[in-house]
Parts: sequence; C-alpha cells; structure tokens
Amino acid sequence: MGLIPQSVIEDVLAHTDILEVVRQYVAMKKAGSNHKGLCPFHDENTPSFNVHTGMGIYKCFGCGEGGNVIGFLMAMEGWSFPETVRHLAERCGVEIPEESPEEVAKDKKRREGKKLYRQIMADAHSFFEANLWSDKGRAAQMYLKERGISEPTAKAFGLGYAPDGWENLLNHMKGKGHKPALLERAGLAIANDRGGHYDRFRHRILFPVVDVWGHTLAFGGRTLAADSKGAKYINSPETKFYTKGRQLYGLDVAKRAIQKKEYALLVEGNFDVIALHESGIDTAVAPMGTALTEEQARLIKRFARRAVVAFDGDSAGEEATLRCFGALEAAGLEARVVRFGEGDDPDTFVRREGAEALQKRIDQAPPLVAWALDEIIHPVEGAAIEVRINALEEVGQLLDEVRDETVTRHYAEEAARRLDIEPGRVARFVQRSEPRRQAMVEQLRQVHKSANWSSAEYGVLVVLLDRPQWLDDFFREELDKLLTSHDLARLLNLAREHYAAHQEINGSLFLESIEEAPLREMVSQALAEGSRGELYPSEQGLRWYRDCVWTLKRQWAQRMADHLQQELERVDFSADRQKFVSLSRQLEEVRQFKRALDLDGGQADSLEDRAG
Ligand code: UTP
Ligand code: MN
Repeated sequence: MGLIPQSVIEDVLAHTDILEVVRQYVAMKKAGSNHKGLCPFHDENTPSFNVHTGMGIYKCFGCGEGGNVIGFLMAMEGWSFPETVRHLAERCGVEIPEESPEEVAKDKKRREGKKLYRQIMADAHSFFEANLWSDKGRAAQMYLKERGISEPTAKAFGLGYAPDGWENLLNHMKGKGHKPALLERAGLAIANDRGGHYDRFRHRILFPVVDVWGHTLAFGGRTLAADSKGAKYINSPETKFYTKGRQLYGLDVAKRAIQKKEYALLVEGNFDVIALHESGIDTAVAPMGTALTEEQARLIKRFARRAVVAFDGDSAGEEATLRCFGALEAAGLEARVVRFGEGDDPDTFVRREGAEALQKRIDQAPPLVAWALDEIIHPVEGAAIEVRINALEEVGQLLDEVRDETVTRHYAEEAARRLDIEPGRVARFVQRSEPRRQAMVEQLRQVHKSANWSSAEYGVLVVLLDRPQWLDDFFREELDKLLTSHDLARLLNLAREHYAAHQEINGSLFLESIEEAPLREMVSQALAEGSRGELYPSEQGLRWYRDCVWTLKRQWAQRMADHLQQELERVDFSADRQKFVSLSRQLEEVRQFKRALDLDGGQADSLEDRAG
C-alpha cells in the first residue's frame, strides 16, 4: 500500500474542519469553547461527546473514545486509514502524490472510476435540470405546479426532466465525451440488441438521489401521465457506486432540519418528501420503495435520535410500517408512528388538513411498538383462546425486535392482560428463541384444551397454590362464586383443607388427594409454575392475583348481563310488569358493576404499590 506522506496528512488535517465532518453524523450544540453531542459510539441520553475545533479532536467522556477527524471517520464509516485520508483530501482539495505498486494502481482505478461516475451523474443531473426549466419541460413544470410544488422547492431538490425520445441524454453526454458503455454502467442508458444504446429515462420527472456529501448517485423517474401503463417510477439500477438500501431520498436537503428538530419523518413516496418540504415540514425523507434497511436507519441515527414513520394509509403502508420497526430498533432510534386513513398519504393529508394538522400528529405520535402491539391485539381481544394464542406468536416476533428489556417487559405485560393469558407465560415466551416459543405455544394450547377454564381461572389456581394463605380470604369473599368451573372450585376447597391440615401445600401429598387424572395434570402443572418462581417475580404475585380476580369478576358480570338481557327479552312487559322492572334493575346494577370494574382496571398499576 502506497504510503501517504506525513506532510500530506498534516495538510489534510489543517484543511479539514472536524466539527463540520462530525456534524454529518451527530447533532452538535455549542457548549463553551467546545461542542457537545450524543456519543455515536455508545448509547447515552445526556451528551458527553465533545468536539474541540481548535485542537481538531473529539473525545467522549462517557466511553472514552477520542481522536482526530481521521479516526472519527474510520470508526464511523469503517474505512481504512488511506481511504479516509483520500476522502478528506478530495474534499479539501489537497493533492496526494501517488507512489508505488499494483495495490495503489487498483485503488487508484477505483477512485478514478468513482470520480468519473460522479462526473457522469453530475452532468446528467445538470442536463435533466436544465431541461425541466426549458421549453421542453413545460409539461413537467405544469405537472409540478398542479401538485403544488413551487419552483424554489423543485430547485432545492434538483428536480429534472428527461425529455421524450430515445437518445436525448446519450447525445448530450457524447458531446461531453462520455462513452455510451459507461452511461450504461452508470444505469443511465440501456443496451439494445443491435449493439447500440437508448436512454433509460424518457418523458419523466427526475428525482436525483443525493448522498449526504452532496453527490448525485442515481435517479428516480416519475411518469408524467396520470394513467400511464408503464411503471409509475423507473429508478436507476444499483451500480458499483450506488446501493439503494444505503441512501434515503431527500436526506441531503433534510439533514439540517432533522438535526435541529431531532427527528426524521419517514414517508413512503419521493413525492411526499417534496410536497411536505413545500408545506414547511422539512424533516421528511423516503426509503425509495424498499423496506427500510438497517443502514438507512443508521443514516438517520447520524442526525437524530427519533424517527417518525408516516407511511401511506393503505394496508401496504401499514405492513411497511410494521416492517420498519426492526431496522429502527437495531439502529437505536426511538420509533414513532403516524397513521392516516385508508385513502390518504402525507401529501394528500397535508393538502386537505394543512401542515399544522400533520405537525400536531407528528408531535403526538405514539411509539411504533405500542401501535404495532395494538394492531396485533385489538382484533382478537375477547376472541377464542386459540386465536389469542396465535396473536401471542405475533407479539413474540414483534417484541423480539425491541432492544430495551424494560420496554419488552412493559409490553409483554400489556399483551398478557389484553390477551388474557398468564403474564408469567407471556414474559417467558417473549424471552425465548423462535423454536422454543413454538414449543411453548403448543404447551399453552394443551393446557387450555385439557380443561375448559379461562386463563384467569388457571391463574387463580397457580397463585393460590403458591400463596395458600390467601385461600381463606378467597372463600370468605365468595370469589369461588365467580368461577365457571365446579372442578376448580372443588380443587380450591381441597387446597384450603389441605393447607389447614398441613400449614402448607405439600405438592405430592396434595396431588394424591385428587382422583381425576386431568385435574391432577392441571394441578401439577400449576404447582410447577408457581414453585419455579420464574413464572412471576414474587412481588408481582398479588398484582397478578388481582388481575385474575378482576378478570373473573368482569367475565362474571358479562355472563350475568347477557343472561339478564335474554331474560328481559323474553318477558312480556304488559303481562309481567313487576318481573320486567326487577330484571331491568338487576341488569342496570350489573352494568354499573362492570363499568366500575373497567374504571378500576385502568388503574391496575396502583396495585403494585399495595403489593410492595
Ligand atoms: P408511491 O406510488 O406512493 O409514489 O410509491 P409517490 O412518490 O408517493 O408518488 P405519487 O404521490 O403517487 O405521485 C412510493 C415510492 O416507491 C417507489 C418510489 O420511490 C416512490 O416514491 N416506487 C413506486 C418505485 O420505485 N416504483 C414504482 O413503480 C412505484
Ligand atoms: Mn404515495
């Protein structure tokens, strides 16, 4: 590897503003003579990453990382030392004298290839842009105008127009000395079967894809016709120097605002990006029709800690939103979500409701994981246990992506409550790997098949076998009346007697006293869950118990209400007025009871205090 002379390195360092480079990755704020930001090398919530421009160094007092701008870029981009120095030298116009063998030749060839590629793209970009604002671009100008895009906005994004015809760009580029074969490799021209070439982009509005350093790498071309038979977008293919999943459309324009406002707005369409910027929402970027990649997410992370996903309102947009989550979490971004109605996308929404309305939604956007969880659970709440168990599998997949354990636990608890499945099981479930989860789901199905109990009933059994001292209260409060299973009521009675006789539940002895095999099976399962201690941490025992009892009460109230309702429908008001009135009164009481429960259910958290 050709050595880069020390004097050149010094030259490069002298001509490079470290702060400017760091700012491409980290939002920095002035603090005294330093600038401070959140360290990109470790997770932190308060900034301990410092840049001292005078000395040209960075230092994180949190994790200890530090060095000069070359070290910083090497760490951020994974480049080698020479690669990094060359990159910086190119930026600040320092010449690097080349000296030595084949590796350098290869390196040089690649760099020259890259330089040429950039030149070709820049030339093509100028050509397309000039065309848009010329007479040829009338139709395109009209189209932009119709969609409410002003000239300054179109220019900020460098929009262009590829004229109708087969060799407009080819001829123009030939005139600049670019060979058709190279244009083909750059994805701008396509080879025909007669050994010639034709333009890839014809009669389309062009959206240049620009990297954070300001280089045009590719184009997306939108058709001008509303009812075009061809694809709505034709995009540059990937090339040696352009990988779709590593770029975000609009980032070059949006990055400053993203840094300042500390979030990126992720939309689906290139047009959404432009339209939102037009309306003053200048943090929008788009992943260009692909599922968001981790690299794209990390790109956002360089500038902000939060991403708000605002995809189209249709079901495709919904699925794409769900699919984003993994990449955003992996990049350590706080993911939030804005959803629109079926026919809306950010562009149409803002046109109809205005930018302020969208901004409000952005500001109030809920966590993506909470929304996703609700998407999974809401449709199956109160459904048959098999259906809820299926949903649990989906919940497992979702929570698998969550990096923060506290967050996982929080949502696992919510899932358990809403799916009415034992919380301990759900907690263990989400901690398991996929194959082990499948086994657990199977087991869960078995448990619920072997006896026709609700999970709250099973939960009560587990807790009360573990805390037999609560059994007396259970019966004194007549909670056994809430049970639908006489078997369970009988079992609990047996347990109470057993406890009175032995001052504990002696597992094997207790099992001996149960005659029916399926019940014995249930009890041994319940005993195992409680005693293993992993089912629920001890301090949560009371909370879970209360949750189960709450559920039993609610289920009881629902059954009662249904029953009374049916009775009421059967009574003839004129013939049996007294019965009617009495049933109505009972029904109203049950409903009130249920309403009170629902109110109380919302405060389940407060039980934790009492449990402690
Ligand atoms: P959309 O169809 O939503 O495009 O696709 P859009 O940009 O919002 O355009 P309008 O508002 O309907 O005019 C979202 C993105 O998916 C990619 C493009 O990047 C587009 O912006 N896409 C879409 C393609 O690559 N090819 C296609 O055929 C369609
Ligand atoms: Mn769209």
